[in-house]
Amino acid sequence: MLIVQISDTHIAGWDKKAYGIAPVAENLSTCVEHINQLIPKPDIVIVTGDITNSGLTEEFQQAASLLNKLAVPYYVIPGNHDDRSNLLSVFSGTACPVNDLNQGQSGKNQSNNSQEFINYVVDDFDVRLIAMDSTIINEPGGEICGKRAAWLDECLGENREKPTLLFMHHPPVKLGVIESNIDGFIGSERLGTIIEKYSNIERILCGHVHLPTFVRWCGTIVSTAPSMGMRLSLDLTMEQPSKFHLESPTYQIHHWTADNNLISHTVTINEIDQAYLFEEH
Ligand SMILES: [Fe+2]
Ligand SMILES: [Fe+2]
Repeated sequence: MLIVQISDTHIAGWDKKAYGIAPVAENLSTCVEHINQLIPKPDIVIVTGDITNSGLTEEFQQAASLLNKLAVPYYVIPGNHDDRSNLLSVFSGTACPVNDLNQGQSGKNQSNNSQEFINYVVDDFDVRLIAMDSTIINEPGGEICGKRAAWLDECLGENREKPTLLFMHHPPVKLGVIESNIDGFIGSERLGTIIEKYSNIERILCGHVHLPTFVRWCGTIVSTAPSMGMRLSLDLTMEQPSKFHLESPTYQIHHWTADNNLISHTVTINEIDQAYLFEEH
């Protein structure tokens, strides 16, 4: 199974660049075209939050117009730059199946906490996917409150065997950069206590920090995906203010192999994209 992860697209509206500089819509369009040409074809695409730059409906509409060109199903969750109700007004149905509430579709997409949080389960593939809403309204940091933790515990308890991936915007562990250490994550210990109970969680896939990172945490691995061309300028001194660099559109492919391993590749779409044979050089 192939899962493509796009994160932090920060779409800023028609004909607008994020922060006036980053050509995010153009980058996302390039990225979608690249994904559509992948062989083998991916099974699904997940978009791990900060879909928009300001949470506006027109930004979500532009993001949807680009993401709808994907040739495979995609799923979205909110980030701190997004707005839950505006997101739900644009992405409904398959892209964000929170509306399939307790409709007897057990084992498929489900949620038990209405639209208060954008949480759902996708159970149609070899790997089970659990989408978690880690956002706090008008705050940059993340949170898993008691209600979200209880929902997650119940979902995980339904199937302790099937390989499972969680995806949420905020990494629950400090990654040594401002966006993680300063923004914070309320309820990290609460979440960790639940994660430790289940040995079938292959990975927690996150975004938010605009950098590809991997870290062991509570018996699983937390990874973060790069953004859509706005790379966090790496500064381990964590001096304010934080800065970003422009980079080529970048995404990740998570390959669940026949050997039951989850192997992650970071794909950068370079302008010079020619392949050379090792034996000829
Ligand atoms: Fe972001
Ligand atoms: Fe974020």
